[in-house]
Amino acid sequence: MKKLQFALVCVAALNGAAHAQTSPRFTTAAVDQGRDQFHRTCSQCHGRNMVNAGTTTYDLRKFPVDQEERFLNSVTHGKGNMPSFKDALSPEQIKLLWAYVGSRGGKEL
Ligand code: HEC
Repeated sequence: MKKLQFALVCVAALNGAAHAQTSPRFTTAAVDQGRDQFHRTCSQCHGRNMVNAGTTTYDLRKFPVDQEERFLNSVTHGKGNMPSFKDALSPEQIKLLWAYVGSRGGKEL
């Protein structure tokens, strides 16, 4: 009985690990909504589909995808010449923008 319990725990742990690796960080629905929002509020500076020269405006295609906190903070409070979006967007909308930018436009779910 003890052995069987142990085996079950192992299987559960393995399943958990496999799941963590394969489950996407973002849903395609979130990325799609983020893309729409991006083209309403961000693309005039950051470029359509995040494509810009990266000379005066940050090139979002290069934003580190493991820095969600930095993204949320910069967009909420503004940075340098970028205005704050605290009053224009809800935290949920900014999260959707992160799904779009953090997945490299849906390429890295
Ligand atoms: C008025 C032009 C403008 C708009 C609109 C704009 N940005 Fe920016 N953004 C900038 C500029 C300029 C920078 C570079 C800021 C700096 O580092 O001095 C920047 C930087 C950033 C950065 C990098 C910040 C960091 O931590 O280094 C992120 C992320 C970002 N923008 C996301 C967005 C998102 C998402 C939107 C739409 C809600 C948006 N921006 C709208 C001009 C803009």
